[in-house]
Amino acid sequence: MVDRIESLRAEASAAISAAPDRAALEELRVRFLGRRSELTGILRGISELEPSERGPVGAAANAARTALEDELAARREALDAAEIERALEGEAIDVTLPGTPPVAPGHLHVLTRTRREIEDVFVGLGYRVLEGPEIEHDFYNFTALNHPPGHPARMLQDSFYIDSTTLPAGVLNERGLPPGPQDVLLRTHTSPMQVRAMEAQEPPIFIVVPGTVYRRDTIDATHLPMFNQVEGLAVGEGISLTDLAGTLDHAAKALFGPERRTRLKPDYFPFTEPSVQVDVSCFACDGSGRLANGERDPLCKGTGWIEILGAGMVDPNVFGFVGGEYDPETTQGFAFGMGIERIAMLKHGIPDLRLFFENDVRFLEQFS
Ligand code: PHE
Repeated sequence: MVDRIESLRAEASAAISAAPDRAALEELRVRFLGRRSELTGILRGISELEPSERGPVGAAANAARTALEDELAARREALDAAEIERALEGEAIDVTLPGTPPVAPGHLHVLTRTRREIEDVFVGLGYRVLEGPEIEHDFYNFTALNHPPGHPARMLQDSFYIDSTTLPAGVLNERGLPPGPQDVLLRTHTSPMQVRAMEAQEPPIFIVVPGTVYRRDTIDATHLPMFNQVEGLAVGEGISLTDLAGTLDHAAKALFGPERRTRLKPDYFPFTEPSVQVDVSCFACDGSGRLANGERDPLCKGTGWIEILGAGMVDPNVFGFVGGEYDPETTQGFAFGMGIERIAMLKHGIPDLRLFFENDVRFLEQFS
């Protein structure tokens, strides 16, 4: 009988240490220690045994029972601890791992980058960067730039006028009078800052003025009612058309590559005399007008040249409007104006102006 108890105990012990979970342990408890288990049966039947056997069998059965109860409790504890360990491992966070942000960090817009590139070229030549108002007086936008009222060149730039009755009280026009219906407008170019800067500072003056400008226009691949320009103004002793040509040749090479050439063509602006258009040799066909396969280059339309900006020598009449140190008889200098979108389109082969403003990340991400 004692042997039987020992073998039951060994069998139960092995099963308990192999039990995979709490449910299995509970089954073993019922099987080996439950009311209908063999061990419980032996304990109940002790009184029916020979008196000499009662002692050893009772002792062995009770010892087996206590031992198995202890083993069950120990195994239960071990299983619980392992369970907690597993849960903790699953939730573990390694705080030393680098983060993976759900959205990649942003970057500057291609137009901002192009504007800064242009500014950097001229800052490198000693120019200062200025900004001016987008809501402008007719006087600065047109009159002082040598298109007086009624001048036909005003028609070249269809304007957005601001209804003067909506202006804050106290706003006066440049003559100190309440503004009339066509006295205030969204500037159609950055050139008004030529006059404002010269009013604020004696010559010599070397400035670039980036900014947004507005013109009434239809919306298509090459036209928008809003775009951006960089104005340039260089006024000082003896500054000539040659300086204009050299400065803008340097800028074109800095922006489009050192192998580029530039040329000047006659143009017309009311506030420059003479006025020129600056062309850069085409970077698609290297100025030949033909692609490698012999076809006409569509970028420069077979001419080998691409127009990049308008420029000219400041018209003496503009100095006359500024007055002071800017004596129209003795002062001279040059001015230029370029479109930032146009430069960016040419540099990056962007086919449609609207892409800049649609905020489609698939487009924007290409210029990080
Ligand atoms: N303001 C002119 C334009 O918007 C460009 C320009 C600037 C031309 C300076 C000459 C000198 O078209």
